[in-house]
Amino acid sequence: MALNALGRHIALVGYMGAGKTTLGAQLAARLDRPFYDVDREVEEAHGAIWDLFAERGEEAFRAIEADFVRDVCHRTSPAVVAVGGGAVETRGLLRETGALCVFLDVDVDTAWQRVQGSPRPLAAEETEFRNRFERRAPLYREVADAVAHDLDGVTLAAAGIHHELGALDRLGELVPGDGPLALVADSTVMGIHGPRAQEALGDRIESIHELPPGEEAKQLRVVEHLWSELTLDRGGTLVALGGGSVTDTAGFAAATYLRGVPWVAVPTTLVGQVDAGIGGKTGIDVPQGKNLAGAFHWPSRVVIDEALLETLSERERRQGLAELVKTRLLAGTDLDVRAAAAYKAALCLRDPHDRGVRQWLNLGHTFAHALEAAAGFDLPHGDAVALGLVAALRLSGRDPSLLDELDPQPVAVDRDRAWEALLRDKKRTGGAINLVLLGDDGPVVEPRPSDVVRAALDTLIR
Ligand SMILES: NC(=O)c1ccc[n+]([C@@H]2O[C@H](COP(=O)([O-])OP(=O)(O)OC[C@H]3O[C@@H](n4cnc5c(N)ncnc54)[C@H](O)[C@@H]3O)[C@@H](O)[C@H]2O)c1
Repeated sequence: MALNALGRHIALVGYMGAGKTTLGAQLAARLDRPFYDVDREVEEAHGAIWDLFAERGEEAFRAIEADFVRDVCHRTSPAVVAVGGGAVETRGLLRETGALCVFLDVDVDTAWQRVQGSPRPLAAEETEFRNRFERRAPLYREVADAVAHDLDGVTLAAAGIHHELGALDRLGELVPGDGPLALVADSTVMGIHGPRAQEALGDRIESIHELPPGEEAKQLRVVEHLWSELTLDRGGTLVALGGGSVTDTAGFAAATYLRGVPWVAVPTTLVGQVDAGIGGKTGIDVPQGKNLAGAFHWPSRVVIDEALLETLSERERRQGLAELVKTRLLAGTDLDVRAAAAYKAALCLRDPHDRGVRQWLNLGHTFAHALEAAAGFDLPHGDAVALGLVAALRLSGRDPSLLDELDPQPVAVDRDRAWEALLRDKKRTGGAINLVLLGDDGPVVEPRPSDVVRAALDTLIR
């Protein structure tokens, strides 16, 4: 089974005091899902857990708890369910529900600090609390599909994303299953990080494939060549190691080869780690335009190892910084790579097919695409996004100096050509153009009059 929560419940397990109730509610709000706290629901239906324990014993309580977990998982659309600290002992139950199981890990001192003095029957005595913690910890790990410590951690886990410095060396354990693997990277990345990836994947590697570096990879002939080289059967997995060009192309090959084989994304650029590697959009360019042929095909896992960024050129880092700054603006707060990845992951889980909130990620991109097209695609995407963000901020009534770190510089392109490209990208409705902008309470999609949009575009051109 895939290691993400698309269309599945998320069961949070962990010891008393791990924060299942608090984080569960926050995760549910982030993913726009219902939240069920099993302990609380049991108390509402049967009275205080303390009394249940005293009157009917722990076993009876566990049976009620298990019934409730089953009931909630069969009854509702994908939800977040905080499962009582002991339900994990009924391991089959969690498998039966089909839920993605995330272990919320906590150290025992923190857990004790949080629960001591609370009216929980199993938190009455410290030594017993600590002993029980030791007994349960391995059980939680055994049932869990992923381990997390905080809200971003559970969000990443829900999207099947593993973030760890040095994770490349553990790739063999992180690629789900035990079938054969096809490793795909562009020639530059293969030269730099390929040997370590190969060592980590070991004997499971069945074939190795090199793509041309950069956007050159995103061509039908490159995909055709890959199809012809691949020998995997459906039990195999394609591992894509590289930037967005590699994950888009290899992900598309995985979506189409044998009508779909699983794939794992290992993004090696900043663009890839905060954006392209996440959310399952794969695709290639066609003569009529960028990304016009593709498929939604979620990677069965995404492995983010920020150490891989150390070999990235300053130019490529800049491209990623523009997307990172965009995500910070959307979130309304400062974000590092991990938090930005979690932000995108949450939007993609809410809207996997890009019909609603995921479109927020296009902040500034309407203008960026227009400038890129007018420049004959000779303008780096990140530089175009930086300019697009200037226009989006102005139209949102915000100060574009928020973007000083990107140092956006107006470009010399033909104004009419840029405007025509923008109109091709965005249909006008009643003389207005819908844009992603920043409202008082976060991102919004709002119409702006065509002449106002054109004036905003013109300010980006010298
Ligand atoms: N699918 C999505 O959701 C999505 C989102 C954003 C962007 N994209 C796509 O991503 C593509 C751009 O991807 P990108 O910006 O990651 O660049 P890229 O994949 O084109 O790579 C750029 C260059 O960096 C090199 N490189 C990659 N990792 C390196 C490393 N660790 N060290 C040294 N060099 C390295 C590559 O060899 C290449 O020459 C575009 O085609 C865009 O359409 C897709």
